Amino acid sequence: MELIIADGVLALLGCFFLYKIFFSQERSYPLPPGPRGWPIIGNALDMPRTHAWRTFAEWGASWGPLMSIKVLGTPFVIVNDPEIADELLSKTGSLYADRPTIQMAELTGWDRALSGARYNARFREYRKLIGKVIGTKGNMVKFYPVEDYQANMFLNRIFQNPTIPQQPPGTAMVLHLTYGYKIAEDRPDPLVTKVDFAMAQFADIHRTGAYLVEIFPMLKYLPAWFPYAYSKRKAAESIGPCNEMADVPFAYVKEQLAKGEENNSFAADLIKMNISEEKLTDLKWSAASFYAAGSDTTVSVVYSYLMAAVLYPEIQRKAQAEVDAIVGKDRLPSFGDRESLPYVEAVVKELYRWLPIVPLAVPHRAMEDNIFRGYLIPKDSLVFVNVWHYLHDPAVYKDPNTFNPERYLGPNAEPDPVGRGLFGYGRRICPGLHLADVSVWINIVKAVAAVQVEPALDANGVPKLPVPETTDGIIVRPIPFDCVVKPRSEQVLHVLEEALNNGKNVN
Ligand code: HEM
Repeated sequence: MELIIADGVLALLGCFFLYKIFFSQERSYPLPPGPRGWPIIGNALDMPRTHAWRTFAEWGASWGPLMSIKVLGTPFVIVNDPEIADELLSKTGSLYADRPTIQMAELTGWDRALSGARYNARFREYRKLIGKVIGTKGNMVKFYPVEDYQANMFLNRIFQNPTIPQQPPGTAMVLHLTYGYKIAEDRPDPLVTKVDFAMAQFADIHRTGAYLVEIFPMLKYLPAWFPYAYSKRKAAESIGPCNEMADVPFAYVKEQLAKGEENNSFAADLIKMNISEEKLTDLKWSAASFYAAGSDTTVSVVYSYLMAAVLYPEIQRKAQAEVDAIVGKDRLPSFGDRESLPYVEAVVKELYRWLPIVPLAVPHRAMEDNIFRGYLIPKDSLVFVNVWHYLHDPAVYKDPNTFNPERYLGPNAEPDPVGRGLFGYGRRICPGLHLADVSVWINIVKAVAAVQVEPALDANGVPKLPVPETTDGIIVRPIPFDCVVKPRSEQVLHVLEEALNNGKNVN
C-alpha cells in the first residue's frame, strides 16, 4: 500500500516537474526582435504618428521580417514578409482571427460592424451571411447590371463637375448594391448625407491616440458630464448616427419588399432568406458592414487611377488605345470585354500595388500564446501585416514607386498584388474581394474608355502635378489633388446617354 502511495506521489511530482519544464520552456522563448522600450510605456514614444507602414518597413530592415515592439504592455507584432504573414495568419486556424477591443466602438455601437467584431458566434454568422451573397466570383454575375449602371452614372457625374469628381462611385454604387437604393442626382441625397456623416464618425472614433478611453478603459465608467469624460460625450453624439446608418436603409428595403417592389440588393437577398426576427440585428449589421467597408475602397482606387493618368499620360494613352481597338467607340466597355483587355487588367493590378488602399490591413489579435518560428507571440498581441512594404519591396518590384503596368506582362512578370496580402489573411480575409474586383475593374475600364484626364494648370498655365502619396488611416486614398476630367469626344457623351437610358430600370 505504502509503495502504491509512494509511486503515486512520485508520478505526481514527475508530472509537476514535466509541466514546469514545459511551461518555463514556453516562457523562455523570446518575443520577435525589436527596439528596446521604456519600462511601462514600452515603445509608445517610438510609435509613428502617421503613415506607420513606412516606419514599420524601416524597422523591418533593421530587425527582420518578423519583429515586435511593446506599447503600454501590449506586444505589437509587425510582419514585413507576405509568406510569414500567410503562415502566421492563414495557417493557424482561428488563433489570430480576433480583433482588438476598441472602447469607442463599443461605446458607440460600431463594434457591431464586421471589421471590428470579436471572433465569436455572431462574427461567424455575419461572415456566413455575407459569404452566401458575395462569397464567390459566380455570385457577382447578378450584380453586373448594377455595377455597369453605376459606373455609367459615375461618368455622368464627373462630366458635370470636371475638376473634382463629386459623389464618387463608392457611395452611390454601394448603396445601390447593398440596399437597391438609387441616390438622388439633382440634389443632396438625404440617405447619402446620413451615411456619410455616420462614416465620418466611424473614421473619427478609430483615430489612433485620439481618445483617452483607449488607454484608460476605466474612463468609460465615468458619467458623461464628468470633466475627463470627453470620450463618453463624443460617444453619446455618435450613437444615433451609427444606429440610423444601419436602420434607415434597411427599413427602406423591408418596406419595398413588403410593397412587392423589385429589389435585388444584398440586403433584400438576406431578408428573403427568411431568417428569424431575432437575427434581424445580424442582418442589418451585415448589410451595414458591407456598406461601410465597400464605400471608400472602390473610390480610393478610382482616385488613384485619376492621379496615375495625370502623372503618366502615356499609360493613359496606351490603355485608351487598347479599349478603342477591342471595344470600338460605338459603345462603352462591359464585363464581357474583360478577357480581351490585358493592358487594362495590368493597370488595375498596378493601381492596387502603387498606392495600396489598406496598407497595414486591419490588425489581428492573438487569442492564445503561440510559439511561432522559435518566438513567443503572447495572447492579446496585435499583429500588423505591412502590405504596403510587400508591394514596394524593390527585390520583388523593380522601381517600386514608378507606376508601370508592364511589370505584369511578358515572360518575367512580377507577382500579382492580389496574391500578396492585398485583401488580408485567414478568417478575416476581405469578404468583399470578389465584389471589389468587379467594382474596381468596371469603373476603371469605363474611365479609360470615356474620360480624358489632364493636369490642372496653375495661375501661370503651368501643370500642377500631384505628389503620389496617400492619406493616413486604415483605408487610405490619394491625398487631395487637382485635375481636369473631360469626355474624350462628343461621341462618348451620346454613347453614355444611351447606356444610361438603357440602364434606367436596373434594380
Ligand atoms: C479594393 C478594394 C478592397 C481592398 C483592397 C480591401 C481590403 C481589405 C483588407 C486588407 C481587409 C482586412 C483583412 C484582414 O484583416 O486580414 C478587409 C476587410 C474587410 N473588407 Fe475589404 N477590401 C476592399 C473592398 C471591399 C468591399 C467592396 C467590401 C464590401 C462590399 C469589403 C468588405 C470588407 C469587410 C466587411 C471587411 C472586414 C472583414 C472582417 O473583419 O472579418 N471590402 N478588406
